[in-house]
Amino acid sequence: MTKLRVIAPSNIALIKYMGKSDFSANLPANPSISMTLEGLCTEIEVEVDERSLYDRLESHPGISSSGVDRFLKHIERVRQGVQKIFPFYDLKQSLRRGGLVIRSSNTFPDSAGIASSASSFAALTLAVAALCAHDLEKFKKIYLDKKGLQEDLARLSRQGSGSSCRSFGGPWVFWCDEDVEPVLSHLPELVDFVLVVSESKKNVSSSEAHRRILTSPLWGGRSERASARADRLRSALVSGDYFLVSQIAWEESWEMHSLFHTSDPPFTYWQPSTLDILNFFMNEFSSQNRPIVTLDAGPNVHVLVPSVEELKWFELFRKKFPDIKILKSKQGLGARIESE
Ligand code: DP6
Repeated sequence: MTKLRVIAPSNIALIKYMGKSDFSANLPANPSISMTLEGLCTEIEVEVDERSLYDRLESHPGISSSGVDRFLKHIERVRQGVQKIFPFYDLKQSLRRGGLVIRSSNTFPDSAGIASSASSFAALTLAVAALCAHDLEKFKKIYLDKKGLQEDLARLSRQGSGSSCRSFGGPWVFWCDEDVEPVLSHLPELVDFVLVVSESKKNVSSSEAHRRILTSPLWGGRSERASARADRLRSALVSGDYFLVSQIAWEESWEMHSLFHTSDPPFTYWQPSTLDILNFFMNEFSSQNRPIVTLDAGPNVHVLVPSVEELKWFELFRKKFPDIKILKSKQGLGARIESE
């Protein structure tokens, strides 16, 4: 049996992908920018079972039956997709027959309520594409050379789950329409603390949120505002202006959650502790000294601080929120093939 293992990180967006211009292709209504999270990864082991005709998912933490269908559909999408991509890199498809056996796990606690489709779909895309290559060593080399194969696979992955396309690069990635590209940053190295308010599954999936927010009265002009903010964020990253990055991320995160709160029907991911944490950052800091605070479509709060101040912040969070679980992740690079 041919076997390989890939690792893909998740990412935290400071400018959010929320709202789509094309739902079937997961094309975003606006550009987004994220930091790749080395500590919050999905690891996928995939092998070909020559005795079987069908693909199967042997393990994947917390996946629903509709999640399994989405995964299996994506495997087929990647198989079809590489037929178009490989010729550009002079890669040939393997003639092996058989179904794929997928085993997937996360490098962070499965119960943390932050399981993200970004890392799962990036890992799945890379694993299946690599296994489709006749010459794996050649595939690996071209993938590492960063001459377009990563971008092509990111496009394919996006069709499975939008935010996964940003998990092919890092530490900072810009995604606009079909394209992902690196963003230059002169910020110091950061770590992301996740203040885990809730570990339970969210009651509105992010795919549903993308649809629901179209009903919000705040949706008008959102795409222009987010695009302008993405431009400002790029400049702030280039100039290494941490507090400006923090201000932009703060505005963006509140705007996305305001969209949720004003949809019809409205919904919220916040829990009382989410608000306690946000109040803490609102009341005890100003825009001149607040760390980078952001939330995904969930109740948990991400705080990005310089690595050199990691201990100071950790102790402060422990003291202020003694009952809250805290995860930590370094900034990282994109999805990679680990071994055979
Ligand atoms: C709030 O990528 O999960 O995390 O394309 O429907 O799978 P689908 O959506 P998904 O949306 C993520 C939304 C977000 C913001 C972001 O990561 O940019």
